[in-house]
Amino acid sequence: MSILFGVVFFILGSLIVYVFQKKIFKGITEEDVVCEVVQKAFIRVKNSEHNEHKLVRELLKSDAFIKDLSLTAKFQGSIVGYILFTKIKVGEETLLALAPLAVLPKYQKKGIGKSLIEKGHKVAKNLGYKGVVLLGDPGYYKKFGYSSASKWGIKSPVKIADENFMAIELYPDSLIDIKGVVQYPKEFGI
Ligand SMILES: CC(C)(COP(=O)(O)OP(=O)(O)OC[C@H]1O[C@@H](n2cnc3c(N)ncnc32)[C@H](O)[C@@H]1OP(=O)(O)O)[C@@H](O)C(=O)NCCC(=O)NCCS
Repeated sequence: MSILFGVVFFILGSLIVYVFQKKIFKGITEEDVVCEVVQKAFIRVKNSEHNEHKLVRELLKSDAFIKDLSLTAKFQGSIVGYILFTKIKVGEETLLALAPLAVLPKYQKKGIGKSLIEKGHKVAKNLGYKGVVLLGDPGYYKKFGYSSASKWGIKSPVKIADENFMAIELYPDSLIDIKGVVQYPKEFGI
């Protein structure tokens, strides 16, 4: 009888250890951390539906994804900020959409957003892209050279205040001949 108990205990014990290890070592991926950072950054943003982290998950596996333009900012080895640029179309031209940009609340106003934008622009330019389009706060993005996309005849596919739909040229006059309505990848749900 006691042998039987011993065997049952051994099997149960092994099972618990196995399940525990599976949970522990299943591994949290960088993608999980990035999505958590994005979710936490947008938690108190008023004009948000708080689904930016879900958009990131979708975009990371989409055709619009560019590995070199998915950038993290780290502090003491931990991810505290994130920026993503994905492919969009304006007519025949492939430009980029900046969405989202997110910095953990505790690390905001320390220049992290700025450094992510500047790094992203540099990489995008080196990859040969002509410009970036975004939907955002002009009070913030004007600091980095963004202005109304309508200036170039680049239009939003949805109704949006002119000042919030912005673009930037990645080199002088790079957007001069680019006009039309932005076609977002389906993941944006636009
Ligand atoms: C918006 C956000 C990315 C800014 O990141 P950040 O690291 O705090 O920004 P920085 O410290 O690099 O700020 C750069 C400059 O913008 C200013 N700034 C920061 N947030 C601002 C805001 N919301 N509106 C206007 N200016 C702002 C800073 O004071 C700084 O100005 P300075 O260079 O003259 O000193 C961050 O606040 C965030 O993640 N917010 C929640 C998510 C969000 O709203 N994302 C943007 C979606 S459009």
